[in-house]
Amino acid sequence: MTLVLLPDTIPLDPRVPEGVHTAIYDVRARIPADLRDADALVVWGNPADRLAEAARDLPELRWVQSLAAGPDSVLAAGFDPAVVVTSGRGLHDGPVAEHTLALLLALARRLPDAVRAQQRREWSTEIGGLQPIPGSDGAGFRSLSGARVLIWGFGSIAARLAPALTLLGAQVVGIASTAGQRAGYPVVTIDEARDLLPRTDVLIDILPATAATRRIVDDGILRRLPAHAVFVNVGRGSTVDEGALLHVLQEGRLAGAAVDVTATEPLPPDSPLWDLPNLLITPHAAGGRPVGADTLLVDNIGAFHTGEPLRNTVVRPG
Ligand SMILES: NC(=O)c1ccc[n+]([C@@H]2O[C@H](COP(=O)([O-])OP(=O)(O)OC[C@H]3O[C@@H](n4cnc5c(N)ncnc54)[C@H](OP(=O)(O)O)[C@@H]3O)[C@@H](O)[C@H]2O)c1
Repeated sequence: MTLVLLPDTIPLDPRVPEGVHTAIYDVRARIPADLRDADALVVWGNPADRLAEAARDLPELRWVQSLAAGPDSVLAAGFDPAVVVTSGRGLHDGPVAEHTLALLLALARRLPDAVRAQQRREWSTEIGGLQPIPGSDGAGFRSLSGARVLIWGFGSIAARLAPALTLLGAQVVGIASTAGQRAGYPVVTIDEARDLLPRTDVLIDILPATAATRRIVDDGILRRLPAHAVFVNVGRGSTVDEGALLHVLQEGRLAGAAVDVTATEPLPPDSPLWDLPNLLITPHAAGGRPVGADTLLVDNIGAFHTGEPLRNTVVRPG
């Protein structure tokens, strides 16, 4: 009998083949002794210390299925290298694409300024009223129509986001590890993208947290963007040099930014990032709702049971 442990943080009801047994476990507690012979562990919202404990506690474990798109927390937990890790890649495409659009449009249409003015009961004639035509001198980033958008990390989420940006009139180019066409969009490497940065209105970060992406969005990258540009991070906080971001925003060297993820989460109350009027912060709110988790589980539990390749297998570094 194959035992698959399901987290109690999300209602799951995958139909499993004969010979597979599922049990629900509390992600905040130690896995009970009678479940420690589990073959597979599904994780969602598990605290880091409990995940590390599970890595030590489950000697029979052969597979960990994360429902998160980014498998970084599972990879950091210390599971044996023989344990296969699969991610929730694809489950967050819609929610994260929507959140990215929300952040971008909020920056373009100055919603944070409008909310501040509303709190003062002020009808701002500067935010409203007659405005420069988008794309004209002095207009700044005020519309996606005609905007040149670079998406760094052109994977599953980007493939969902890009057509929505196109629909609103943006020109989209992706950046990934290798160049070529993806989902109908031109994708370049960062070496080629460096020349595009000075002609970019929007840089979107949807990168995973890896050793190679650590602080990859640094001072040099941010300063190559034009001063009217905006930066949006829905990938991982570790990919950005936050000190550099703070400085370019303070200096007005970059018009604005929105981050859903920060290097330390929760962002500490004394972080200077909170004080920047041109930085919009959301508390890792883009994903958080894996859509279609049961379908992925049915596919992967079936494949695991018959020894076939699993969907979304994560290639471990090193
Ligand atoms: N804010 C949230 O709530 C939230 C929710 C879901 C996901 N996320 C984040 O979004 C990330 C992406 O999710 P996804 O589902 O789109 O993953 P994905 O399909 O694996 O796409 C990741 C992309 O990043 C590229 N990439 C990786 N390392 C790179 C590097 N060093 N330089 C250039 N490109 C690199 C990959 O390019 P190659 O294909 O060429 O390797 C791939 O195109 C996740 O890892 C997670 O960190 C955040």
